[in-house]
Amino acid sequence: MDTLNRKNSIVLHKNCTTALGRDNLSSKIDLSFLDPPFNQDKAYNAWDDNLPPEKYWEWMREICTKVYALTSDGGAIYFMQREKNTEFVLQALRDTGWTFQNLIIWKKKTSAVPGSKRFGKHYQIIAFATKGRTPRVFHKLRIDPPLPQGYKHARENGMFVTDVWDDIRELTSGYFAGDEALRDADGNRLHKQQAPIQLLLRIILSSTNPGDVVLDPFVGSGTTLVVAEQLGRKSIGIELDSENVALIERRLAEQRKSDDISRFFKDYACTSDLERIWGDNEIDRKFASSEF
Ligand SMILES: C[S@@+](CC[C@H](N)C(=O)[O-])C[C@H]1O[C@@H](n2cnc3c(N)ncnc32)[C@H](O)[C@@H]1O
Repeated sequence: MDTLNRKNSIVLHKNCTTALGRDNLSSKIDLSFLDPPFNQDKAYNAWDDNLPPEKYWEWMREICTKVYALTSDGGAIYFMQREKNTEFVLQALRDTGWTFQNLIIWKKKTSAVPGSKRFGKHYQIIAFATKGRTPRVFHKLRIDPPLPQGYKHARENGMFVTDVWDDIRELTSGYFAGDEALRDADGNRLHKQQAPIQLLLRIILSSTNPGDVVLDPFVGSGTTLVVAEQLGRKSIGIELDSENVALIERRLAEQRKSDDISRFFKDYACTSDLERIWGDNEIDRKFASSEF
């Protein structure tokens, strides 16, 4: 099985290093989300997660270069990594032609990872960059989180989303990951790096319009496709591990309640033109049947 087509999303069971060649992907990409293995010796079925650092960053530069070549003018990349790798991420993006826009701090809701000789770690980074200085799309989303302690006056129209995201809960290990985490019959997690749908919702809403094309070269459990499909965006996910490809197929077919993004619509209610940005779920058969 090489390719799965569903509605507006395509899953390629391939190594993204080769699949990202211009000859292989015919669509122009408007947004890419990169959540690669972090090279921290995690147990992946199909990938060595313990490369020498120089090899790993050479590989990341290769991926960034290939994604850049496929991206439309002004298109966006969001590259997620551990905070300790921030300088390497920014360097990789700069070296491969991307224009830096923001360093997003995704602050974790659960306790910090303690350190004995340094401060405890409490966030992950997401570097946002574009092809060229001006983003082709950037929707200034507005949210209305609870007022911080000491604030006396309620907001009139929420607040715009900043580069610190502290309102999105990560899917931690174990029970606390809740219903959204994919599990087997015994309750074990099926993909330990599964990203929360709220994270992809914010990224896709900010940097695309309905009908745009979203790429995830390390699509894992398929979170990017699950969200893109509900927002009426087309999406391409690439995944090396056949078990994950099968997992994505089941996840897309199942349409689980916990994957339904509509419950988050109200969180962005202060955003102007939200209904248009949110899009719909129209099936684009032309895209789904295109050759990859
Ligand atoms: C950090 S996880 C991504 C998790 C994903 N964001 C999610 O929400 O499920 C990285 C994924 O990349 C896959 N992978 C590793 N090397 C790859 C490669 N060369 N090409 C495609 N996928 C790869 C791994 O199997 C793993 O599922």
